[in-house]
Amino acid sequence: MASSAPLCHFSLLLLIFNLLLGLNSAHLSMNFYSKTCPHALSIIKTTVYNAVKLQPRMGASLLRFHFHDCFVNGCDASILLEDTATFIGEQTAAPNNNTLRGLNVVDDIKTQLEESCAGVVSCADILTVAARDSVVVLGGPTWNVLLGRRDSTTASKDDANTNLPAPDSSLDKLISSFAIKGFTARQMVALSGGHTIGKAGCATFRNRLYNDSIIDPSYAKWLQSICPQSGDDRSLAPLDITSPTSFDNSYFKNLQCKKGLLYSDQQLFSGGLTDSIVEKYVSHPAKFAKDFAKAMVKMSKLSPLTRTNGEIRKDCKKINYY
Ligand code: HEM
Ligand SMILES: *[C@@H]1O[C@H](CO)[C@@H](O)[C@H](O)[C@H]1NC(C)=O
Repeated sequence: MASSAPLCHFSLLLLIFNLLLGLNSAHLSMNFYSKTCPHALSIIKTTVYNAVKLQPRMGASLLRFHFHDCFVNGCDASILLEDTATFIGEQTAAPNNNTLRGLNVVDDIKTQLEESCAGVVSCADILTVAARDSVVVLGGPTWNVLLGRRDSTTASKDDANTNLPAPDSSLDKLISSFAIKGFTARQMVALSGGHTIGKAGCATFRNRLYNDSIIDPSYAKWLQSICPQSGDDRSLAPLDITSPTSFDNSYFKNLQCKKGLLYSDQQLFSGGLTDSIVEKYVSHPAKFAKDFAKAMVKMSKLSPLTRTNGEIRKDCKKINYY
């Protein structure tokens, strides 16, 4: 009894915590804008489609935006708020600093939405829909998006620094940072499959090239040429070396060949308890697609502002003035 009691309390606390995280998501719905802004979804889709066709990496950047929004006090578009003389936002937090891309696409969408239905569609919902549409354009699974989020009037640089996992995270650390948000290890692995598209800067994987044993030697050599021990932190390498612009399961195949780009990527297949999940996603791509879609919907429900909470920003980059 004595030894199992703390675990029971922990599970109960986690349950209550998860209920709180998802409570307001009950007010989200698929048809939220069907009367108030019937073309909202098609405007977002067309704009994302054009941007990604022009530059496939934009799809990756838009997917990452949604993740970095939702993991920091919920999907409330806090990540879009820019620093001003009197306001500190999240864009200069370590995981975001100099690596956010796609603000111009979000602005473009917002401008069109304000023209067709002013003050109706939130920036948080734009990020949610744009993430889904990006994955679809690049060949990944689709899912139904729930809508009705509102935008925050605050942001937290500190929370961005603590809640977003760093690329030097161990497997335990990755599991726990997703568990805090209510995700299982399997859902964490599925979501990490988002790294089947996009690029990372040298600063985020340099240590792995010179200090890590779980890396394919010729892959390491190639990466060292892109990312010397001292050099430009911003030289880029693809997160999925096999097919960087298609949303498939090759990210997991790479891990089996010790060709994960980030230390955190390779941790998912390094002799630990997530190896079997990676194996499953390699042999059953449809399972990955399904799990990813489900986990994205779950992520999109993280503590949204709904009903009278928050506001609908006119400009996604700043809070409204009254
Ligand atoms: C599991 C923990 C995760 C860690 C440690 C992590 C870390 C990183 C890092 C360091 C980069 C490169 C940033 C840069 O140098 O520009 C990156 C890029 C990216 N991440 Fe993650 N990430 C994680 C999970 C996720 C999840 C859950 C998603 C989405 C479902 C995601 C989507 C992306 C995408 C698409 C890119 C490429 C962005 C671009 O090309 O602009 N990541 N991530
Ligand atoms: C963010 O990047 C700028 C360079 O553009 C740098 O001066 C600043 O120290 C960085 N901040 C953090 C928190 O890394």
